[in-house]
Amino acid sequence: MQHSVYAFDAYGTLFDVHAAVRRYSDVLGPEAQQFSQIWRNKQLEYSWVHSLMGSYQNFWDLTELALDAAFHHCPSIDKSHRNALLEAYWHLDCYPEVPMVLKALKESGCRLVILSNGSPEMLSAACKAAEIEDLFDEVFSVDLIGRYKPDPQVYDMVTTHFRVYPNAVSFQSSNRWDIAGASNFGFRTVWLNRFQYPEEYHDYPASAVLADLTGLTSL
Ligand code: LAC
Repeated sequence: MQHSVYAFDAYGTLFDVHAAVRRYSDVLGPEAQQFSQIWRNKQLEYSWVHSLMGSYQNFWDLTELALDAAFHHCPSIDKSHRNALLEAYWHLDCYPEVPMVLKALKESGCRLVILSNGSPEMLSAACKAAEIEDLFDEVFSVDLIGRYKPDPQVYDMVTTHFRVYPNAVSFQSSNRWDIAGASNFGFRTVWLNRFQYPEEYHDYPASAVLADLTGLTSL
């Protein structure tokens, strides 16, 4: 069934969060993959903790702090790469199927938006680098309300903007916890299980599960 609005999570869903470390994997050494995972996990942990404390700090600041935590956990990684890794985070690769799927949805008349924890500057730079910025009708950053996902107020930005009920929105994310939050809010949810993770949050199931975005247009 076609939905009138397709909302996409950004990091991990459209953009590969491990692309920054991968670009430097030669010089970072054997701990690189673990380092990248810690960087990501800490970034998310900080977003949840700050949201719960009611002390919002933007996603870029948290990304920097998370990188420092990753350096701490992986002492073999040379800290002199800090600036290069942060710079690379501004233009992460998008997953290969992303432009094609977004174009197909756009051509069929759907409205496309990003709904992300990322700061407006980060999202604008990433979309520009991936050459997908013209495909989106809106880019919603949590920065506008100072709370992170999965706070229901974040998902509400989309329904309020378009004046639609939650079930008119199809929300896509590779983050299972984000799918739980969006399902709880009432969106139709599509979990992109890119890495064959086990099912979680059984009380908040996804409406559909795909390995990547390719099958989205025929759901
Ligand atoms: C985002 C985080 C969840 O883009 O990756 O919102």
